[in-house]
Amino acid sequence: MVSFKELGLVNTREMFKKAVDGGYAIPAFNFNNLEQLQAIVTAAAETKSPVILQVSKGARNYANQTLLRYLAEGAVAYAKELGCEYPEIVLHLDHGDTFELCKSCVDMGFSSVMIDGSSLPYEENIALTKKVVEYAHQYDVTVEAELGVLAGVEDEVSAEESHYTKPEEVIDFSKRSGCDSLAISIGTSHGAYKFKPEQCTRDPKTGKLVPPPLAFDVLHEIEKKLPGFPIVLHGSSSVPQEYVDLIDKYGGNMPNAVGIPEEQLREASKSAVCKINIDSDSRLAYTAGVRETLALHPDYFDPRQYGKVARNYMIDLYKHKIVDVLGSDNKLAK
Ligand code: G3H
Ligand code: 13P
Ligand code: ZN
Repeated sequence: MVSFKELGLVNTREMFKKAVDGGYAIPAFNFNNLEQLQAIVTAAAETKSPVILQVSKGARNYANQTLLRYLAEGAVAYAKELGCEYPEIVLHLDHGDTFELCKSCVDMGFSSVMIDGSSLPYEENIALTKKVVEYAHQYDVTVEAELGVLAGVEDEVSAEESHYTKPEEVIDFSKRSGCDSLAISIGTSHGAYKFKPEQCTRDPKTGKLVPPPLAFDVLHEIEKKLPGFPIVLHGSSSVPQEYVDLIDKYGGNMPNAVGIPEEQLREASKSAVCKINIDSDSRLAYTAGVRETLALHPDYFDPRQYGKVARNYMIDLYKHKIVDVLGSDNKLAK
């Protein structure tokens, strides 16, 4: 049993309270490898932002759970080395789908876990979430749950279509499950193709797809039912056109990729939404950097040559999200 406290990590409790009260959101960035982790820690340390290092089940299998534990411990030390004396870093399991997986992460030093029972019938979602909460809280690990179903594929949790969270269920769900935060469905979805072209309109000037707005009325209803309760938004990548264009220019093909406009995420960050999940944008920045570098330098074969470019693109992306979208810069307690 490894306690997250021994690794220098923090849980989300205080962090979320401050974010809800302060009208900003904590970035939850997914990572799978060293370059992504370096970029996240650099961006958070340089902007003095709290940050959530987010690991999916697939990422955990890819990176190896033992290595992850030491990477997280290393992330805290690295942030200090970068001049951030008191970093606030969470290691979080994203979309845990079983009690056993959540338990294993708690036991391996994660400071926060998500149990995603959103595809289960309501009562089963409550029962599974409660079981995880009862275990995790013994070790002061915080738990995120999900109510309502996002469109698209959530790791290995799939849903055919999006079902918005029902505001009338949130009080009962949060009380009976004991969860510390709740992911809701208000129109976001995972991946780089969040809407079908037929769901969008087209900007007459650029010809680019304009997605339908998020259901802010549902969010505000939920906030009224659970004042001050931490709300989480998954599927919050914006799919920046500049990266899609670079990918397409250098051999890729991502027609009709579309994300959530940043103005809407900026607005959501000011509400009870205190955690915003971003994975696809990092994948795009990374891939754009690799494709561009290899296309411009066909002689390169040292992974550091293209890894460095990709890492710099991700650092710029993360800083932009922190400073210009979520507003979590300069929010460390000390
Ligand atoms: O919500 C899903 C995340 O983007 C993680 O994706 O399962 O491919 O690691 P992944
Ligand atoms: P994106 O695919 O929009 O980056 O969402 C990531 C996410 O919600 C991870 O849980
Ligand atoms: Zn998600």
